[in-house]
Amino acid sequence: MTESEGNKNEDCHAANGVKPGRNGMVKNHHHHHQYQKQEKVYHAACNGELYSRPFIESFEETPMLVAVLTYMGYGILTIFGYLRDFMREWKIEKCHIAREREEQKDFVPLYQDFENFYTRNLYMRIRDSWNRPICSVPGATFDLAERSSNDYNWTFEYTGRVVKDVINLGSYNYLGFAENTGACATAAGEVTVKLGVGVASTRQEMGNLDRHEELEKLAASFLGVESAMAFGMGFATNSMNIPAIAGKGCLILSDELNHASLVLGARLSGSTIRVFKHNNMQSLEKLLRDAIVHGQPRTHRPWKKILILVEGIYSMEGSIIRLPEVIALKKKYKAYLYLDEAHSIGALGPNGRGVVEYFGLDPKDVDVMMGTFTKSFGAAGGYIGGRKDLIDYLRNHSHSAVYATSMSLPVVEQIITSMKCIMGKDGTTIDECELKLMRGSKWTDVIFFQASK
Ligand SMILES: Cc1ncc(COP(=O)(O)O)c(C=O)c1O
Repeated sequence: MTESEGNKNEDCHAANGVKPGRNGMVKNHHHHHQYQKQEKVYHAACNGELYSRPFIESFEETPMLVAVLTYMGYGILTIFGYLRDFMREWKIEKCHIAREREEQKDFVPLYQDFENFYTRNLYMRIRDSWNRPICSVPGATFDLAERSSNDYNWTFEYTGRVVKDVINLGSYNYLGFAENTGACATAAGEVTVKLGVGVASTRQEMGNLDRHEELEKLAASFLGVESAMAFGMGFATNSMNIPAIAGKGCLILSDELNHASLVLGARLSGSTIRVFKHNNMQSLEKLLRDAIVHGQPRTHRPWKKILILVEGIYSMEGSIIRLPEVIALKKKYKAYLYLDEAHSIGALGPNGRGVVEYFGLDPKDVDVMMGTFTKSFGAAGGYIGGRKDLIDYLRNHSHSAVYATSMSLPVVEQIITSMKCIMGKDGTTIDECELKLMRGSKWTDVIFFQASK
């Protein structure tokens, strides 16, 4: 790349990124006066790519008062914690938590010191603020089993009462398909009666049913890719397929806020891993450029493969990947792109087809389209979509394809029914406007920010 091209790109990022803060996030107040400029830049060629809509994200800053009070509360609990530990040591206060027996007192403690300190003195005192037992489906509201404690949350007793209709800000049932009534639940129930829950074999052996194949065909057409494969667990889809794609001599470039399953997959692959700043294209480009210029450490041979790992929507932050720029970079440096759409599939884009559709891009530009069925589809499992030769290869080489039991049929049925519904192929159950409303609602935004990894 020539110097002038480099400068051109930097200009481009500076303009469209509004000088990102830490993690590439942008403060709200920048946006008003930058909007015009951003729109212009995003419609112009950035890294040689054209794409169809402006991309503006804003994130609320933590108010100073909230931050100060939180740290003060933490500090006070810590000081009291040390004081109470001192009293426990001198047997002035009773210690409730499991400890090594007297004869084991010279053993290395089971917990690390601080972890144990935190559990004893901070977590136990406040755990009832969020750690409540749920006793209904994870809908927009749900029911909680009431309980009470007489010993400052060390133990609880159920009162037998149920607290009804509590707002649910924690589950990732984005489109409301994880219900115990309705078309999905009926279809899952019917197939359970007919074929049972367990398949009791792997896809490679006796566990390949027509329902699995139908699901994969449907997923491929939903994603707009040649072929797709479904796996019984979203986490394992990442952690077991990345090692099948990359290995020794390959370089993985991973966003610093990627999900644990992507991190584990990258580590298991034996590839060299380099981490770029969250959603920061300058940081990614620098790593790509260094990788091309210097090659592998010591030998300086070219990397066998460079794989970029990103997510569509980051579940803890709610940030959307700058996909057009990532695609432009991966094309420029001839790298491969692995996109985890766990939180964006179903929930983003005019037809719910995820972040690729949201930006009006071509799914063929993403080499590996990964996603899970646990969020928008209200089920379990994950998928990989892409070119047919990639999927055929994974069918034979991925550990979760070869050694794991195939997906349970009620789960398959739940996914097929919800996916058909999103695609408008189910007849009537939920009409398209209703889905658009669900996707565009404030409620969905709230859930994105609250969903736990
Ligand atoms: C980005 C991402 N990838 C993968 C997973 C794992 O998926 P699952 O929970 O379906 O196993 C999650 C889980 O929340 C996730 O957030």
